[in-house]
Order: sequence, then structure tokens, then C-alpha cells
Amino acid sequence: MKRLIAMSVMAVALCACSTAKKVSADYENVIPLPQEITVVHEPPFIIKKNTRILYPEGDALLKKNAEFLAGYIKESTGKQLSVEVAEEGNDGNAILLETDTAVGHPEGYELTVAQGKVRVKGRTPNGIFYGLQTLRKSIPAIATGADVILPAISIKDAPRFGYRGMMLDVGRHFFSVEFVKRYIDLLALHNMNYFHWHLTEDQGWRIEIKKYPKLTEIGSIRKETGIGRSRTEFDGKPYGGFYTQDEIRDIVKYAQERFVTVIPEIDLPGHMLAALAAYPELTCPIVKSYIGVIPGLGGGNSGVIYCAGKDSAFTFLQNVLDEVMALFPSRYIHLGGDEAQKGYWEKCPLCQARMKNEHLDNEEDLQGYFMKRMSDYVCSKGRKVIGWDELTNSSFLPEGVIIQGWRGLGTAALKAAEQGHPFIMTPARIMYLIRYQGPQWFEPQTYFGNNTLKDIYDYEPVQADWKPEYASLLMGVQASMWTEFCNKPEDVDYLVFPRLAALAEIAWTQPEK
Ligand code: ACM
Ligand code: ZN
Repeated sequence: MKRLIAMSVMAVALCACSTAKKVSADYENVIPLPQEITVVHEPPFIIKKNTRILYPEGDALLKKNAEFLAGYIKESTGKQLSVEVAEEGNDGNAILLETDTAVGHPEGYELTVAQGKVRVKGRTPNGIFYGLQTLRKSIPAIATGADVILPAISIKDAPRFGYRGMMLDVGRHFFSVEFVKRYIDLLALHNMNYFHWHLTEDQGWRIEIKKYPKLTEIGSIRKETGIGRSRTEFDGKPYGGFYTQDEIRDIVKYAQERFVTVIPEIDLPGHMLAALAAYPELTCPIVKSYIGVIPGLGGGNSGVIYCAGKDSAFTFLQNVLDEVMALFPSRYIHLGGDEAQKGYWEKCPLCQARMKNEHLDNEEDLQGYFMKRMSDYVCSKGRKVIGWDELTNSSFLPEGVIIQGWRGLGTAALKAAEQGHPFIMTPARIMYLIRYQGPQWFEPQTYFGNNTLKDIYDYEPVQADWKPEYASLLMGVQASMWTEFCNKPEDVDYLVFPRLAALAEIAWTQPEK
């Protein structure tokens, strides 16, 4: 196929009268690779400075899409194409964006290139957006001043998975609004549709909550940060940062325009030291050390946790979640649930009384009670809850909860699937981008172990020994970017790329391709 494209490009190059520099699109090297690319043996379309981008009258979302495309072409070629309403007779030398219910998949699109006309059709503006990403990625990134030859083609495309996620931990290190927006741009470029934003951690609370100002006044600042791999030495420098509610609204809107849903994570009942430093009355009364201390990324986990025996802890979290849900329209809210140590619960009289009153056999079921109570609250507001796969340690799961599998290749998550729960896979061994991506003695210091670009490409989320019903409950895949070892944007960029490109192909493209 490549040869045919090259031949049609040559034919154009020979007969073109214009002296403008020309570059050709390459559909075969788009990531993620579209499902179906059919070469059409006809003359190409040429993007010139008088090419127009047309959208249907009154369609604000397609107008926005058209403006995105104009921006992408400007970024590559420097040419500012005009964006106009499609009208009878103005569709020559134009790129048309059209809604078409005949396109099967809600996120699918069809891109057809013919002489004089490019059509990008989708059932929804989301689908059309992905068509524009494919068009954009087929054009050389840098083609300053060039006319762009688009060989005649027909592309039909739709994602393999409905959930294509990427996480960013801003608890260990804080990243600016500008950086987060750029991260979202890069997700959109790769057809990723969920940004899982890990907003709270032992080492920092990063979201303004108006009812509890100390969460950010105290909880967003730690007195120092551990250095080196062992983290036994500290830099002695206060470190902090948080997002105001206005900034969060701005980021959520920015993501929405790019068809990325932002899923906030408020991690509970563990990983909460920053919140408990601000409101120590919410932990078990027997906790004496660590109160008021936000760890500086030192090794270990203090085990300090919300007291499951105190109703005030639940009221506090419900109030926090009220503000979170007002900021994030996502139908999914992530409640964490990972790595909650139970040492204090075992000794706390209030937690033990709760277990007795609720007829709970052990502390794992006390966590089950905790998660269920919070999950029921979130569900009562019309949302769905996602939780890490430790939720399956309890003998019962909150109703409807979606499990995020990070341990093993699905073992824990499948316990939930067995009970009919949907799940998402982000296996740490493969999808945690904190691991080394090359020989460790050449790489900047990060976490233990390797997962290379090839490991991600080789990952097939649906394991051969799964029952068919597990595959139908798998919503999709995610990569997770924890930031213990990343304190500046370049560190995150280095670890995320190029592995995000491999993730995008796992998430979007059918495995046989
Ligand atoms: C996790 O890695 N603790 C979810
Ligand atoms: Zn307690």
C-alpha cells in the first residue's frame, strides 16, 4: 500500500503547477493505527492556504472541532485555514466535518479523502475528533510553509476499548495547571479518553475544599522531601502546591473540549496522612505518632488511617465528596482503597465496636464496610465508583463498583468480575510507567524493575485463560504515572514517552493489527 501512496504522490508532484513546497501524509504510521485503511486509486487532496474547514450550521461542538483542526494544521504548516459554516456550493477544496448516524460506533469515524474534498464523519463529535487526530497525525509534525498532499483514502476506525486511561499522581509531586493541560493534550493526541487524576496522598492534598480549608493550608505542604533511592536523607526544603476550585473547573472544561473525562481520585481510607495532619481528630484515638506529620516521601507507610468507628470521618468525607462531585461531572469517581494498613483498626476500641455492631468478622471486612458506605453515598448522587483491587480483599464489594486491577495480570480484579463487576486493567508490572524503560544503569533513578516499550506492546489485556464473561466486563486499560521520583515536567515526559504511544495502541487498535 505504501508504494501505491508513494506513486500517487509522485504523480501529483509531477503535474503540480504551484512552486510551494509539498509534503505527503502517511496514514500507515499513525498511532494508534486505524482499524481499516483502504487506498483509493484517485488523485489526492491538497491542503493549501485557501482550503476551508466546514462544519454544519449551529453545531458548536463541530465548530470547536473545526477550530482544533485549523490549529493543528497551523502548528504543522503555519497556514491559517478558514473555518466556515458548510453551505450549498462552498464545499470544493474543503475539509467537511459531518455527523452521520450510519457510523456504527459512538467513538468511531470515517475519513475519506478524494480530489477536492475531505470528509470526516462520525456518529458523535467525539468520533469526528478522533478522525481529526488521525488526519493530524498523518501530516508531518513540521511542514512549515508546505502544501500537504493527502493521498486518496478511505479509513474506517473505532476503538477496541471504551476506557482508555492514563493516571497522574500529583500528591507526591505537584504539577502546574499548564503541565496538566499539556498532559491532557497529549492524551487526546493519542485517542485516550480518561484522565485519572490522583489528587490526594500521604505526601500532599492537592484539591481546594472550601468547607475544610486546612486540607490545603496544612495538608498541601510538607516540610521536606526524601532524596536518593533509600529516602533516608531529606532535602530540608518545604514543598507544596494545590489546585484551586477555579483551576480545577478550568482543567475539567479544557479536557471536556478534547473529549477527555477527568476522573478525580480521593484515596481512602489509607494514603491519607496529609488530610489527617490537617484534621487529626478523624483518625483512631490510639494514634499518637505521625499526627501533624506529612511524610516527605520517606520509605514505608505509617499505617495511619481514618477511624472507621467515627461517624465524623464519614461525614467529613461525604462533605469533601460533595465538593468534588460539584467540580467533576465525570460519571466515575475514584475512591482509592489501596494499601490501607489495618494495624490501628485492630487496636482501636471504636473500630472494634463498629465491627461488633455491624457483625464484621475481620478488618478487611471493616474496610469493605468503609468503602461500601462511601460508595453508596457517591452512588446516591447518581455517580459510579471505581476502586483499586484491594477492595476484593473484603468478603463483599460495594454494589456496582468498578475495580481497577493493578496487582498481577488480573487475579484480584477477576474476583470482582466473578461477581459481575466491570473492571479496568493497569497491571503494575506493565502499566506503571514509574518503572525503568531501559537498562537501569543508564536511566534516571526511578522505581524497581523494568517495563519497556516492548513489554507494553506485548501486553494483551484479555488473558488466554479468562472465561469469556471476564472479557466482556473488561472496560479497558490504563497506564499509571506515580511521581515519587518525578519532581519536574521533564521527568514525567521522560517516563511517559514513548510508552504512552504503546498504551494507545493496546487500548485503541485491535490486537491482530
Ligand atoms: C497502588 O499502586 N497502590 C494502587
Ligand atoms: Zn478507629
